Amino acid sequence: MEVIESVKQAYPTASLGQLKQWAEEYGFANVHSFRRHMQKQGIKRTVEITRTTDYALSPKATWEEHLAAIRGMDRLTAIHQRVPTEITITYDTNKPICLVFSADWQAGQFGVDYDAFETDMNAIETEPGVFVDVGGDITQNIIQASKMNSAHNQTPIPVQLGLAYLTIKKLRDKINTLKTGNHDYWTTMLTGEDWLGETAQRLNVIYTKHGARINLRVGKQEYPYMSRHVGRYNSTFNLTHSNKQEQRLNYPWARFTVFEHLHVADVEQYRYGDRECAAFRTGTYAVYDDFAQQNGFYGAHICNPAVILFPDRDKLVAFKDMHDAIIYLRAVRN
Ligand SMILES: [Fe+2]
Repeated sequence: MEVIESVKQAYPTASLGQLKQWAEEYGFANVHSFRRHMQKQGIKRTVEITRTTDYALSPKATWEEHLAAIRGMDRLTAIHQRVPTEITITYDTNKPICLVFSADWQAGQFGVDYDAFETDMNAIETEPGVFVDVGGDITQNIIQASKMNSAHNQTPIPVQLGLAYLTIKKLRDKINTLKTGNHDYWTTMLTGEDWLGETAQRLNVIYTKHGARINLRVGKQEYPYMSRHVGRYNSTFNLTHSNKQEQRLNYPWARFTVFEHLHVADVEQYRYGDRECAAFRTGTYAVYDDFAQQNGFYGAHICNPAVILFPDRDKLVAFKDMHDAIIYLRAVRN
């Protein structure tokens, strides 16, 4: 259809609404086909639409700026994360001392023997010359959603933490070191806050987190040892295999090693590198353990092993049961 002259003249600057109206009047399918038709006639639109914006991409930070910022954040994160991996603790004494290894209390889990726990904690608190490394998993702390099935069988977590806090407070003059365990650490992984680490700081207790080398000085003697919640190279049949392999591969300087977590205690005293050494695996107070029942983990028992360390000569004596160690300690101290 021939477009009339007045439309041709108005077309270059007409509004979009006008174009739509003309397209309809002249029987075009849409504005685009009308515009194509006019273009073929050599009639062009002269309306220029310009758009302005203040949108702009952020300026690029340099590699050096990235590194400086991430290094700064790393330094801050370390304040909340890091503990020394090697420390020295000195006992200025001329009498032998007894160091007890007590871990996996699992407080709050159903099936914990609180009577035995009470007896042992009181003995550690009151017996002269006895000190303790409190190991990991002192609370059941089922806080992860994936493990909630076990949460139905535990006392409320605040009560567990209350008992943990008060026990640490009760024993704080006797605590050599305090460690976390996988149960305690679930909170840290979930929230970023290491409750046990904060508690240790508040109560002025040495916190070695997952484990550390401890250079233990007793009188004139030094007994460096390694204590971790979890050890590697485990054997179900030969429980101290883990300790000996760890010593051979990672801690050849250790006079004794301590590993926790598996709830079956064992003790072995042996020669390594022409020195008397010892291996310790700790027990638990969780004598009925639903998780263990579910998975067929048998053999858990109440047991806090201990070592007697002499201050005037290179001599250590390992005991499987802390109460036997205390009987011996009384004899050699008095
Ligand atoms: Fe554990």
